[in-house]
Amino acid sequence: MRLKDRVAIITGGGRGIGREGAILFAREGAKVVVADFDVEGGKQTAADLQAMGAEAIYVQVNVAERASVNAMVETVIAQFGKVDILINNAGITMDATLAKMSEEQWDRVIAVNLKGTFNCTQAVVPHMVAAGYGRIINTSSVVGRFGNFGQTNYAATKAGVIGMTLTWSKELGPKGITANAVAPGFILTEMTAKMPEKVLDMMKEKAPVKRLGLPSDIANAYLILAEEAASFMNGHVLAVDGGLVL
Ligand code: NAI
Repeated sequence: MRLKDRVAIITGGGRGIGREGAILFAREGAKVVVADFDVEGGKQTAADLQAMGAEAIYVQVNVAERASVNAMVETVIAQFGKVDILINNAGITMDATLAKMSEEQWDRVIAVNLKGTFNCTQAVVPHMVAAGYGRIINTSSVVGRFGNFGQTNYAATKAGVIGMTLTWSKELGPKGITANAVAPGFILTEMTAKMPEKVLDMMKEKAPVKRLGLPSDIANAYLILAEEAASFMNGHVLAVDGGLVL
C-alpha cells in the first residue's frame, strides 16, 4: 500500500475527480477526509470508503470561508491527530466572455478556486510543520497554462494556483513539505458536462491521445505526487491532459 496510515484531506471529494481520488487513496491505505460543501455527495463518498474497510470521514466545508476551513481542520486533528496530505481539489466554473463576465462570476470563482486553495493550505501547514512532513497537491488546469475562451476568471485562478505552488515549494521545502500541482486536461465530470458537446469533441480531437480524460487519470496523478517516494518532486506542475495544447 502506497499511502498506509497517511491522513489525507481531499477537498471536493464528494464527486468527480475528488471522489475518485478519495477511493484510490483509501485503497492505498490512507485515512481519508472527504471535505466538501455538498453534504449528500460527501457523506456518500465517505460511506463508500467505509464500506471498503477504510477509515474515512465526511466533513462539510466551504473552502472559500476561512472559519469553515479552520473548523474542518480542527475536526480532522481531533479525529486523526495529523494531516499528511492535502489535495486542494475543490473548484468551480462560472463561464462568460470578458465582455459579459459579472463581478459576481469573477469574485465567486476567485473565492473558491484561488482563496480556497490558500485557506486550506494555510490551515494545514502548521500541523505539517510540527510533524516535519507534508504533501500539498493543488489542482490547476490546462486552462491555467494556455487560457480558454470564456474563462477569464477560471484561467486566472488556475494560473494563480501554479504561482502559489511554486512559492510554497520554496517556503515549505526546507520543512519537509513538498508542494506540487496537477494540471488536468478535459476530464469527464459534472464540470465538463456543462460544456457544449461540440467543444468537448474538439478537445478530444485536439488531444494527441484522441480521448477525454477520466477522473481516474487525475486520481492517479494525485497518488504519484502524494506518496512518500515523491519526496524529491517539489514545485512541479504535472500536466495530465493527453498532450493537449490549447
Ligand atoms: P466537480 O464539479 O465534478 O466537483 C467539484 C466538487 O467540489 C463538488 O463535489 C463540489 O461540491 C465541491 N465544491 C465546490 N465548491 C466548493 C466549496 N466552496 N467548498 C468545498 N467544496 C466545494 O469538478 P471536477 O471536474 O471533479 O473538478 C475537480 C477539480 O479539477 C477542480 O479544481 C477543477 O477546476 C479541476 N479541473 C477539472 C477539469 C475537468 O475537465 N473536469 C479540468 C481541469 C481542472
